[in-house]
Amino acid sequence: MNRGAILVTGGAGYIGSHTCKALAANGYTPVVFDNMSGGHPWAVQWGPLEYGDCRDYEALVRVIRQYKPVAVMHFAAFIAAGESVADPGKYYGNNVGGMITLLSAMRDTGLDKIVFSSTAAIFSTDSMDPIGEDRAQSPSNPYGASKAMCEELLRGFAAAHGIRSVALRYFNAAGADPDGELGEAHEPETHLIPLILEVAAGKRQEILIFGDDYPTPDGTCIRDYIHICDLAEAHILSLGFLNGSDGAGANAFNLGNGSGFSVMEVVEAARSLTGHPVPARIVERRAGDPPVLICDARRARKTLGWRPQHPNLTTQIEHAWSWMTRA
Ligand code: UFG
Repeated sequence: MNRGAILVTGGAGYIGSHTCKALAANGYTPVVFDNMSGGHPWAVQWGPLEYGDCRDYEALVRVIRQYKPVAVMHFAAFIAAGESVADPGKYYGNNVGGMITLLSAMRDTGLDKIVFSSTAAIFSTDSMDPIGEDRAQSPSNPYGASKAMCEELLRGFAAAHGIRSVALRYFNAAGADPDGELGEAHEPETHLIPLILEVAAGKRQEILIFGDDYPTPDGTCIRDYIHICDLAEAHILSLGFLNGSDGAGANAFNLGNGSGFSVMEVVEAARSLTGHPVPARIVERRAGDPPVLICDARRARKTLGWRPQHPNLTTQIEHAWSWMTRA
């Protein structure tokens, strides 16, 4: 069954590439549009790769006219919350600028459906209460603020131009393709689980723990880790939702498992799994880190029918470990 092309910006990256694999498995042709600033050619395996930047209106219009996609999935963005505090212009310029250009190209070519990579970083809390969609937005860093602005743009383009959208607010993406075809490969790596596993693999001496004086039981930050393939599946479900009668306007879903793990607990889980002592050292807090982010995903479960398949943190770490230690 050929269900048509999907324009996937940032499809050569971690979440984008896993979603391309899921798109192909569901009968779509992913057309990757990527400037390769963080992506990898090896991650583009299920459709064509068009080299381009989301701030390049002409390039976007040309690719849309060539492939006639039925919808867009917009992953392309800078993602390091800590870096965004030091260089906010980089984050607002690329993330918000790319969104405005992409939505303008969609409006001008009559392309009216988009699934957008948003983030839990639009929220901030020190409470263990799971965060639902209606929680007030209060980004702790320019990265989260740039994504909140993109959601605002989606609302504006829905009202003015009838563009239907789903913003998926990922909590902390983790794990790797269980078939071993894809995995996480950021350069430089800033994320907790791959950094811990680099220590276990002997590529790094120790893991630095950014602060143990947060208002949490062990003093380290708490996050809700969600398997990359479960995120990919939510994108497929979102396409079906956008095609249905409820899919008009600008919609949003929070995606996580509803369980929080502290940085210390993640280190401990990786020690148990790998059998490596993983030396850890407490250092200063990293600027822009919210203390706690735990997801209430009831809306995605009810409305999209989303059912995470790999909610277990150890399974997520195990898949990331298999990827890192692959032959
Ligand atoms: N951490 C450390 N040491 C490290 C790296 C991270 O202690 O070397 C801590 C961080 O301070 C934070 C936690 O581990 O408390 C998770 O940090 P990550 O960098 O892995 O992830 P973030 O929570 O900062 O951000 C990630 C994504 C964002 C997304 C967010 C949503 O990078 O894109 O999750 O929760 F928005």
